[in-house]
Amino acid sequence: MSGKHIGLRIGDICDWEFLSEAFSAFSPDAVVHFGEQRSAPYSMIDRQRAVFTQTNNVVGTLNVLFAIKELKPDCHLVKLGTMGEYGARRGGVGKQVERAAGGGRELAAAPTH
Ligand SMILES: NC(=O)c1ccc[n+]([C@@H]2O[C@H](COP(=O)([O-])OP(=O)(O)OC[C@H]3O[C@@H](n4cnc5c(N)ncnc54)[C@H](O)[C@@H]3O)[C@@H](O)[C@H]2O)c1
Repeated sequence: MSGKHIGLRIGDICDWEFLSEAFSAFSPDAVVHFGEQRSAPYSMIDRQRAVFTQTNNVVGTLNVLFAIKELKPDCHLVKLGTMGEYGARRGGVGKQVERAAGGGRELAAAPTH
């Protein structure tokens, strides 16, 4: 409609060769990083799916961070998180903030990173 072309590359951000090549070619001013396995129930089905979720989400995010650091240090990053990381099912927001301020134990119990 605008006449502008939006490029598309489809690949795995855990694959550094793919990500770094795409990053270098596009040289982004900002990255909106939504590329994760997002389902907490899926991550808790069994060991295999828990390991996949952690590996995919942590390595993918690390690759995005290193792509910014090494290839475009002034690039902005928008990363969406969830209150589930802070124990949203175990109390209200005030309690979550208290827990987060009080130490890492509650954070370590979160089902996804
Ligand atoms: N949808 C929500 O309401 C909501 C709320 C809070 C946080 N979030 C967070 O936002 C992020 C995206 O959520 P969503 O609802 O858009 O999820 P979604 O499942 O609809 O989309 C995620 C996309 O990421 C892709 N992806 C996963 N791993 C990838 C990888 N290694 N390389 C490339 N692509 C990969 C998937 O193929 C999928 O297309 C997640 O981190 C999620 O936790 C979502």
